[in-house]
Amino acid sequence: MKKFKLFLPIAILFIALPTPMPAYDFLTLSLQWPPTVDPRGLFRRHLPLNFTIHGVWPDRYGVPPLQCCPRIILWQQCCPSQNGGPLRQCCPRNHYVTFTDPILLPRLGMSWPNLRGLDNQGFWQHEWESHGRYSETDYNQRRFFTLGLDLKARYNLYGLLLNHSFIGRNVSLTSLDNLISSYISHVSHKRVQFVCNRQDKLKEIHICFTRALVITDCPRPNSCLSSSPVHIPGYPWP
Ligand SMILES: *[C@@H]1O[C@H](CO)[C@@H](O)[C@H](O)[C@H]1NC(C)=O
Ligand SMILES: *[C@@H]1O[C@H](CO)[C@@H](O)[C@H](O)[C@H]1NC(C)=O
Ligand SMILES: *[C@@H]1O[C@H](CO)[C@@H](O)[C@H](O)[C@H]1NC(C)=O
Repeated sequence: MKKFKLFLPIAILFIALPTPMPAYDFLTLSLQWPPTVDPRGLFRRHLPLNFTIHGVWPDRYGVPPLQCCPRIILWQQCCPSQNGGPLRQCCPRNHYVTFTDPILLPRLGMSWPNLRGLDNQGFWQHEWESHGRYSETDYNQRRFFTLGLDLKARYNLYGLLLNHSFIGRNVSLTSLDNLISSYISHVSHKRVQFVCNRQDKLKEIHICFTRALVITDCPRPNSCLSSSPVHIPGYPWP
């Protein structure tokens, strides 16, 4: 009888505990280049004239990229890590709260727009539920998105590429890497990660930070090839 009394509360505690999220080691700020992501301007009358944020991705060393799969209906598809792809975990949904803040909304709309559709809130919900929750112990939803805006504001990569006439040109990955790495890390070179599409067009630049938000080497490989030039498309219209 005594044993049973002890067992019951422990069993309830066990069931009620949420799935523990693994701790993250670093954050990846993923910046995307609008002329590559939406070359025909399908979704916006005016493509943002700057890099925009794709996401802030809490991540770990030595495992495939972390990504939550918040939708139970996709359970079958998302649970196993796909060959080399993200380690998708089934996570309970963590209730994204629609942004209505009149100061934050325009800032997010300008620097963190959905480039693959018109639904910004749906895009932010995806970023929060699939990535943001890994750093929820440090950042609630509002602080997570503000963090993205703040990290992006540290670097004017658009101005840098413009100044060096890299936009609308084909450049070697080495020269792009030298330019960006020396700009973002004056003291010692930090490795950034370059993502290209299948036509060797620059799609994203990733900058990595420690949990203390100090810039650090990005551990994941480039998808841009060092054997062929990287094309940085310009804006075809004003
Ligand atoms: C582009 O964004 C950077 C911050 O990331 C900012 O410093 C710069 O002024 C922006 N450029 C334009 C043309 O808006
Ligand atoms: C671009 O060049 C201008 C003029 O020389 C300079 O003031 C600015 O700091 C440069 N911007 C970047 C991001 O290198
Ligand atoms: C860049 O390379 C691509 C593919 O090799 C080519 O089609 C394009 O004309 C080149 N653009 C410039 C500006 O050299």
